[in-house]
Amino acid sequence: MTPRHDRPVVLVTGAARRVGAVIARTLHAAGFDLALHYRHSAAAAGALAGELESQRADSTLLLPANLADLHDLPAMVDALLAHYGRLDALVNNASAFFATPVGSASLQQWNELFASNAQAPFFLSQAAVPALRQARGSIVNLIDIYAERPLADHALYCMAKAALAAMTRSLALDLGPEVRVNGVAPGAVLWPGDGKPYDDQQALLARTPLQRVGTPEDVANTVLWLLRDAAFVTGQIIRVDGGRSLSV
Ligand SMILES: NC(=O)c1ccc[n+]([C@@H]2O[C@H](COP(=O)([O-])OP(=O)(O)OC[C@H]3O[C@@H](n4cnc5c(N)ncnc54)[C@H](OP(=O)(O)O)[C@@H]3O)[C@@H](O)[C@H]2O)c1
Repeated sequence: MTPRHDRPVVLVTGAARRVGAVIARTLHAAGFDLALHYRHSAAAAGALAGELESQRADSTLLLPANLADLHDLPAMVDALLAHYGRLDALVNNASAFFATPVGSASLQQWNELFASNAQAPFFLSQAAVPALRQARGSIVNLIDIYAERPLADHALYCMAKAALAAMTRSLALDLGPEVRVNGVAPGAVLWPGDGKPYDDQQALLARTPLQRVGTPEDVANTVLWLLRDAAFVTGQIIRVDGGRSLSV
């Protein structure tokens, strides 16, 4: 049996780039060691692992997988436990995001959007539950404010995130008292491709009480709070949108 690693361990999916990488850095700085899941972004994942290892040795494990492949999900957890001997937290961050206008949406698009945004979070959580129970651990799901109020032309994405929101509440009910399950619902913090269109930003700011654009750090700090500090919070989805969703 693998000896139990001496620091808490978190698995972050889609951790190589963008919001996932900021979550990984934030949790690492707070003392978590990491299993960094990625699919295509091998170079970015390797660079991130190198950066984190230079700060603390033996603190990262790379886990490549296509989350649409159901067999890979328990295998990821097995590989993690073989390496670390413990799992304290799971962050379901990986996500596909693209438009699916009604009239041309396909089953293939349905499958891709539901695989990463709903199916994998459920089956990965299920595979992780025994270890999470043992650790009295926690799950955080990255949802989206568009799970509640739809984004035009993105029905399948919104539906998949709504399923993830429902899963958050169901698992919180089913996995207590040992495992807490919560969600973070960001407003826009990074546009696809890293571009931030200026006009969209101005329109968003006009409707945002906190009068600024959100950042990946805002999201990552909320994930850290839910994992580390929110000991009496479960089944909750925290909107991180500067208050934008308060008014229509
Ligand atoms: N960005 C925002 O403004 C925003 C707003 C609201 C909610 N969110 C949510 O916050 C989370 C992070 O957002 P983000 O914009 O940083 O995400 P992203 O860049 O769109 O996607 C994150 C990663 O998901 C991985 N991924 C997608 N499909 C996969 C699959 N089938 N198997 C394995 N990995 C897969 C990709 O990994 P590889 O690159 O390794 O292939 C990708 O880098 C997501 O859940 C997103 O829905 C983001």
